[in-house]
Amino acid sequence: MDNNKDHYYSKFPESNVKIHTISESLRKHLYIFKTITGVFSFNKIDLGTKVFIEHMNIPKDPKFLLDLGCGYGPIGIVLGYEAPESSIYLLDINKRAIWCARENIKINLSRERKNVIALSGIYFKPINKKNIKFDGIYMNPPLRQGRKQFLDLLFDIPKHLEKNSSFQFVIKKKMGAAYILKYLENTFPNENIEILCKRSGYWVFKCFD
Ligand SMILES: C[S@@+](CC[C@H](N)C(=O)[O-])C[C@H]1O[C@@H](n2cnc3c(N)ncnc32)[C@H](O)[C@@H]1O
Repeated sequence: MDNNKDHYYSKFPESNVKIHTISESLRKHLYIFKTITGVFSFNKIDLGTKVFIEHMNIPKDPKFLLDLGCGYGPIGIVLGYEAPESSIYLLDINKRAIWCARENIKINLSRERKNVIALSGIYFKPINKKNIKFDGIYMNPPLRQGRKQFLDLLFDIPKHLEKNSSFQFVIKKKMGAAYILKYLENTFPNENIEILCKRSGYWVFKCFD
């Protein structure tokens, strides 16, 4: 992909369209994901995503869950399978990613399931008017765009969370996981900041609950 215009986080990727299929066992269930060029990690599930999915905490009987920056949808679709009664939103800026996420919802979840919804737009924008408070927000953040955008986003997260609910995310150790831990502890001294696991060079965070 061209460094200047076409990234996995482009709104309209311009790279040629080639469809791929990924099959992956996650939390002891087999998923099939359709992906396309121009979408994050389109040829195999990202290792950070995999570590995150295996270790993320899913609250009991959640009403609303959010996969923020969903890509082709692995995190949100696993949440959809594991929390069959809840409404799940999958949001991403990249229109191709949202096309894949919608296909993958149809492939992996029951046809009757109408409350797993993929929408395109900038972070919370597509659902701002709905005023939803989530029982969990989940993310493999786009740190390649720069750390600042993620650190700014952290301030926006708590107002979208239900009481006693968490924001969970994964960071590659080499991408500054220790720095982000220190930043969170210093910036939100009264909040719970927890590391759920450190595995294969990735740290899984759980905070604000
Ligand atoms: C590291 S990828 C993770 C994708 C997917 N969750 C996974 O684990 O495979 C980050 C995702 O965030 C999306 N993204 C980047 N900036 C965004 C923004 N401002 N609003 C919404 N999504 C964004 C990218 O398009 C990308 O799909």
